[in-house]
This record gives sequence, structure tokens and C-alpha cells, in this order.
Amino acid sequence: MKRLLSGITPSSNQGLHLGNYLGAVKPHIEFQEKGECFYFVADLHSLNTVFKPEDVTKNTENIFIEYLAFGINPDKTTFYVQSDIPQITYLQTILNNTVTVSELSRMHAYKDKLQNHEAGNNISFGLFSYPVLMASDILIFKPDIVPVGEDQSQHVEIAREIGKTFNNRYGAILKIPDLYVNKEVARVLGTDGKRKMSKSLGNVISIFSPEDEIKKQIMNIITDPSRIHPTDPGNPEKNPCFLYLKLIEHDLLKSDSDPTTLEMEQQYKQGKIGDVTIKRYLFNSFLQYFKDVRDKKKELAKNKDFINEIRVKGQKKATELAEKTLTEVKNAVGLWK
Ligand code: ADP
Ligand code: TRP
Repeated sequence: MKRLLSGITPSSNQGLHLGNYLGAVKPHIEFQEKGECFYFVADLHSLNTVFKPEDVTKNTENIFIEYLAFGINPDKTTFYVQSDIPQITYLQTILNNTVTVSELSRMHAYKDKLQNHEAGNNISFGLFSYPVLMASDILIFKPDIVPVGEDQSQHVEIAREIGKTFNNRYGAILKIPDLYVNKEVARVLGTDGKRKMSKSLGNVISIFSPEDEIKKQIMNIITDPSRIHPTDPGNPEKNPCFLYLKLIEHDLLKSDSDPTTLEMEQQYKQGKIGDVTIKRYLFNSFLQYFKDVRDKKKELAKNKDFINEIRVKGQKKATELAEKTLTEVKNAVGLWK
């Protein structure tokens, strides 16, 4: 059975959004049927951008619970919090010596920041060395496959290079995993109808927010801008509501009285349906689609002892393997025993 590993950074207090779900969580949950999975909440990575201590704690706990609500099976999957495994950061210190400053300077996340900040002075060393921490996250558990979104593929590539450099220097200790980018899961478009859905762009539909918040997000979706009156013909491709409806399996709600998404598309083209009707339909479909996980999260959040048990269980399983790899690495590089 292949081993898969992936992580999610708890960098938001808004919880997971539709893009996160379709691009990351859904495939992660499905992979549990196919392989031995290692999933973790990358809280140390979040320190790049989250500076309020109480936010770091809250965001980490929140995303841990949301992942469980979506169906992480802690009996099968090793599910843990990154900072609970200090062997990862120990390995990072060793791996710092297998990558050059110029290689790290080519990383998109760093280059983008550099462009936006004019001078490198404002960029933390944490952001610069982020790919080395990510390489440690990966290499310490010797996975076969690392499934990530397109935006993270460069980081997995450099983790592979770091692993190869280490092995060339010290022998075949680390496993070089394959990168897996699910091309079918295209980037989900944001509610601005222009850019990818992303919390930093404020164009998301949040899965776990209160209903009125979700309603606001849906009512604010920017639809075909060339359509001024509901009687003007519209282009469904320029209306993200249709995209979302298709993505969340619109047929879920189908009943005799509900128009299907396809019917609504036809009506939209003919100028026979208003945006508000479509948005109301989307709002209801969205809530219905995510009803079970929203309920599950509420139930889990009440049971802190149970959550903690799962956390400790994951920590134990992960530590065993991390310790084993770290010992091999320490011996290989010649640290005095
Ligand atoms: P955000 O862009 O909101 O900050 P993150 O960068 O924290 O989201 O991404 C967490 C995970 O969700 C990553 O695996 C990423 O590839 C995936 N993801 C984020 N936004 C989208 C999107 N719009 N479409 C598909 N996948 C996404
Ligand atoms: N950097 C990833 C993100 O922001 C999260 C992550 C951290 C990760 N370490 C990882 C993903 C290791 C895969 C493997 O989405």
C-alpha cells in the first residue's frame, strides 16, 4: 500500500472554504480508501503570517476539527499537529545544509513577496526557509506520494531535490516521493468571478460560517457584468453561481418543483431568470450539501477531550516513525552518539 502525505496550513480564522474543500480536503478524504495516509495541520508554517498567539492556537484547533468533521479516520490515517513532532524541526536544521540560498531564492512564494515588498528586508527568514521545513515535513515520513495543489508543486520539487542531495552525500537514507497534482481539480474561481478563490482575496464561500455570513458571500457573487436587467440575455459561463452549482453536485436538491441547474442556465441565456433566484437556489444547495459536516463540526467542537485523544493518538503514531528516520539521519551525518 502506498503512503501518502499532505499538510494544510492553518493561516485563516475563517475556516475552510469551497476552494480548499474541492482542491484539497475532498481528495484527501478519498485517498484514505486507497493508501496509508499521513495528514497534518502545519501550525509552524502559519507563523509566517499569523502573529497573534491566540489566533495561532484557535486556527490550528479549528482546522483540526474541520478536517475531522469532513471524515478523516484517525484509526486508519495518521493525523497530527506539526509542532507536536519536534523531530521535524530537528531534521530541518540538518537539511538546511543540503540546499543553497540561490535555489531557495527561486521559490515562487519568496519571489512573489519580494516583488510586493520591493526590498528583501521585510521578508522573514521563516518565509525564505519555508521550503526546507516543508521538505522535512515530507522526508521524515518517507511517503511514496505527496498530493498537493498546483501552487505547492514547486515546494515538493525542491523537497525531492533536497532528499536527493542528502542521499548523494550520505547514502540512500531518504525516500524520494512522487509529486501528485490532481489536474482534474481545477482552481476554483472566486466570487469576484476573476481570480482563484482565496481567503487573502476575500472572494470565498466559507463552509462553516454562520448561515447569514454564507448568504452574504453568495449574494455578493459577481455575475455576468454585461447583463444589467434580469430580462437581458446572460452568459452562464460568466456567472460563477453555475460553476459552483455544478461543483457541488446540483442534482442533490432535485425535486419536481426545483428547476435544475441546466434549466436555469437556459433561462439565464434567454433573460428569463434573475440573479437573486439563482443565488437563493445556490445558497440552499450549498447548505444542504454541507449540512452533515457543519453539524458534525458543532458536535466535535463540544467534545474537547475526544479531540485531544485523537491528537495524542496521531502524535504517538507520527513520533515513532519520525524518530526512526531522524536516528538514521543523525547516524548518517556523523553526529556523535
Ligand atoms: P488560500 O488560497 O485560501 O490561502 P491555502 O493556500 O491555505 O488557501 O490552500 C489550502 C489548500 O487548498 C491547498 O492545498 C490549495 O491548493 C487548496 N486550494 C486553495 N484555494 C483553492 C482553489 N481556489 N481551488 C482549488 N484548490 C484550492
Ligand atoms: N505549504 C502547504 C500549503 O500551504 C502545506 C504543507 C506544509 C504541506 N507542509 C507540507 C503540504 C508538506 C504537503 C506536504 O498548502
